[in-house]
Amino acid sequence: MMNVRNSLVVASLLFAPVLWANELTNPDLISKGEYLSRAGDCVACHTAKGGKPYAGGLPMATPIGTVYSTNITPDPATGIGNFSLEDFDKAVRHGIAKDGYTLYPAMPYPSYAKVTDEDIKALYAYFMKGVEPVAQSNRETDIPWPLSMRWPLSIWRTLFAPEVAATPTSGEIEDAQLERGAYLVQGLGHCGSCHTPRALTLQEKALDDSDPAYLSGGQVIDGWVAINLRGNTGDGLGTWSEEDIIETLKNGRNDHFSSIGAMNDVIQHSGQHFTDTDLLAIAQYLKSLPATEDAAELFKASDETATTLRAGGQPNRGSELYVDNCAACHRTDGLGASGVFPRLAGNPSVLSGDPSSMIRVILNGSRLPSTKQAPSDLVMPDFGWRLSDEEAAQLASFIRTSWGNKAAEVSTSDVRAIRKAISEEHENPMLSRAYPSQQH
Ligand code: HEC
Ligand code: HEC
Ligand code: HEC
Repeated sequence: MMNVRNSLVVASLLFAPVLWANELTNPDLISKGEYLSRAGDCVACHTAKGGKPYAGGLPMATPIGTVYSTNITPDPATGIGNFSLEDFDKAVRHGIAKDGYTLYPAMPYPSYAKVTDEDIKALYAYFMKGVEPVAQSNRETDIPWPLSMRWPLSIWRTLFAPEVAATPTSGEIEDAQLERGAYLVQGLGHCGSCHTPRALTLQEKALDDSDPAYLSGGQVIDGWVAINLRGNTGDGLGTWSEEDIIETLKNGRNDHFSSIGAMNDVIQHSGQHFTDTDLLAIAQYLKSLPATEDAAELFKASDETATTLRAGGQPNRGSELYVDNCAACHRTDGLGASGVFPRLAGNPSVLSGDPSSMIRVILNGSRLPSTKQAPSDLVMPDFGWRLSDEEAAQLASFIRTSWGNKAAEVSTSDVRAIRKAISEEHENPMLSRAYPSQQH
């Protein structure tokens, strides 16, 4: 008996590489890997504008200069075709390149550290066997010496990137569905890389829900403020139902709100591809996160504004501008039209501490992405040519303080700064495009 078992062990050791090679071409494993690559949104960063999928070359702004994403197609010469599973794992979960240097954390390995061994294998199978190889050399960073030296990055990594976890999530969650949600949000989904505030040294202030800073919002991605995803009322998801969250991740809109800016990309490449079960798990997990400790209630529904406007009252210049330019779609009650025009009352993008997103939408307009389920793209016209900085500020202030909205007013200089940033982006489309954007 003993001998049989030993020889089985020896045999399995001898044949393991062969079995693994066969397993690599297993269509189930490859399609699981494809699903996971969408959950991880690898394509968003590893594809240049107009470039071949996964061939890299997307410029990403960092505080010290521009980094380019790399070719992760299985081309052996220019891509990752000669990466072993171990090389791949080292890059994805540990942030270490095949040659041993540390990767810039523009690659979200601090989140991917939570991915399980099993899922790494499936991802590897997909990238080796499911992705079309593309011959395209990687670009050097535009970071000048001495900042371009990689050794300080390895110090950063040692300090801030977590160990690859034995248990994927914080391990304190009992419910299997919530555990799955936490795994996707904290791990492959890397939601925190945009939605968690960062410290001065640029690491996310928290990588899981053990700290209330987790997903509390505030980072500005390509000019768009990533909102608070916790239970905060008004500026967070406090009033959102699980269904609202699911609908948004699938279609970029729900009955009340619509997604803008940098989130649209996440929805197009990642959100809409999740299974219904995984979307429910994500929604339940987000709904389990309590409001931040210092949370002020930034919205309490009130029909005062609507009553005044309907009676022809104009409390200020902002309200006049609203009635003339915006009420046709967003209505005098600020509730919009279900599934078509988002409500501005109790809207997190309107109420967020940093008003940049709403100013940007007013000046530059916005277009909802079309998804599998909601193919029509809805357009918000641009008003920048029509409104002066002062008017746009008065209008934004009116919206942030009406229908029960209780956010701080917007200043003319806030608007001026954003108008300047928008015109610089138009002149130089390469500038600060950390992510490809849906803006037209
Ligand atoms: C937020 C942007 C972003 C996302 C999302 C992202 N990456 Fe990356 N990745 C990068 C950047 C930028 C680099 C290059 C970093 C550097 O040069 O230091 C990189 C590097 C890599 C490398 C190292 C390649 C090499 O040539 O050494 C691998 C492998 C990799 N990524 C795989 C993935 C996989 C798999 C996913 C999805 C699970 C993914 N990446 C998602 C930005 C991203
Ligand atoms: C590339 C950065 C980025 C990543 C990654 C990201 N988000 Fe976002 N997200 C944003 C930005 C920016 C906004 C603000 C856009 C807005 O106000 O609609 C946003 C808004 C949202 C909204 C509100 C949308 C609305 O209608 O106002 C939800 C819900 C959301 N994100 C969930 C998620 C989840 C869940 C994940 C992870 C699976 C995630 N996000 C990953 C940048 C990101
Ligand atoms: C023709 C109809 C229309 C008019 C007029 C209009 N909007 Fe919009 N607005 C939209 C649509 C559609 C969206 C959703 C766009 C998207 O998600 O990309 C939107 C989105 C917004 C958002 C972002 C909401 C969110 O959930 O993220 C704000 C803020 C906004 N509009 C303010 C205004 C203001 C202020 C005016 C007047 C100056 C105005 N809108 C005029 C149709 C309109």
